[in-house]
Amino acid sequence: MSSYLFVLGRNPQLSHLELETVYEKKPIHKSEKCVILELDKKPDIATLGGIVKICEIVDEIHYKGKKNAFYWGLSDYDKDGYGEALRKTLQKQFVKQKLKAIYKRESERPSVVNKYRLLDAVVCDGFLAKTIAAYNPDEVVQREEKKPVNDFMIASSARLARIMINISNAQKKDVLLDPFCGVGVVLQEATLKGLRVIGIEKDSLTAKKARRNLHWLKRGNWEIIEQNSTQLADHVMECDVVVSEPYMGEFLDKIPTKKQAHRIARGLEDLYARVFEQIAIVLKKGGRIVFVLPYFKTREGDVLRVSFKHPFFERARVAYEHEGTKIGREVVVFENVK
Ligand SMILES: C[S@@+](CC[C@H](N)C(=O)[O-])C[C@H]1O[C@@H](n2cnc3c(N)ncnc32)[C@H](O)[C@@H]1O
Repeated sequence: MSSYLFVLGRNPQLSHLELETVYEKKPIHKSEKCVILELDKKPDIATLGGIVKICEIVDEIHYKGKKNAFYWGLSDYDKDGYGEALRKTLQKQFVKQKLKAIYKRESERPSVVNKYRLLDAVVCDGFLAKTIAAYNPDEVVQREEKKPVNDFMIASSARLARIMINISNAQKKDVLLDPFCGVGVVLQEATLKGLRVIGIEKDSLTAKKARRNLHWLKRGNWEIIEQNSTQLADHVMECDVVVSEPYMGEFLDKIPTKKQAHRIARGLEDLYARVFEQIAIVLKKGGRIVFVLPYFKTREGDVLRVSFKHPFFERARVAYEHEGTKIGREVVVFENVK
């Protein structure tokens, strides 16, 4: 059993929820910056969406490689002086040992850490650790760019999709349903995780694009149904989880007025209520729904939430910042407890 320190991404609350669901363990330490868990198996960063680095807790930092030239770095999340003192001590130590230690800046390290031997010391909340894997945004960007169809106007972020799928607690071979599948980012991430997926998309051209993207992955068990989700129970037998960043109303290039926001919110309440009614028919008992709900800040200074009747238990709600949009978002976790 080893202690692993997980450096959290931009939204610590979402990362906490993700780690809690994936590892089902009480942390040794938990803060806005990191979480420490004792685990039997080395965690795999590729399966997580909300984690920047995974590190192993150590008492001391040493270079243990055989070659005398190597890359190294130090991430100091505390900035209380200890990290800087450690950096100087390590530099002196390398000189004394006649090692050619090449310092890599933080931004350069993720691409190096997974490929080459790199000694990356981490100081976080007073803990000392050594990085064993780092999230590399370039890898995800490269994959997204190779995809046949990208539609930045409607596509979810691959990273958020992965976090939401993990929070849904879906297990391999489970059936995941996205009732507003767009070009299929959630479906694609779930397929890569070994889930069977069903996507519903009302717009015929978008449904075709989603099919092209899933064909391109050349794996998995998937189905895209071109339908209105308000009738999804006529086309879907059963599912284990529902994960979706749904339709959120017309595109807003300005903060809406109260009247405008009210109209959009009421329309969405009606749509979501009807879709949740259908989900209640097909979702297995105990299954989770991880859904992004919008809220609207108005020019008059009010905040309008979308609230509708449904039969599910609300387990968690976390605000999620989405750059370049006028719509506020919350990731909400519901459970079918009936
Ligand atoms: C925000 S996008 C979905 C993003 C998607 N979850 C992903 O993984 O990229 C919303 C999609 O819902 C579709 N849509 C809107 N109303 C719908 C409805 N009633 N039934 C099914 N799809 C709908 C839109 O055409 C749009 O493609």
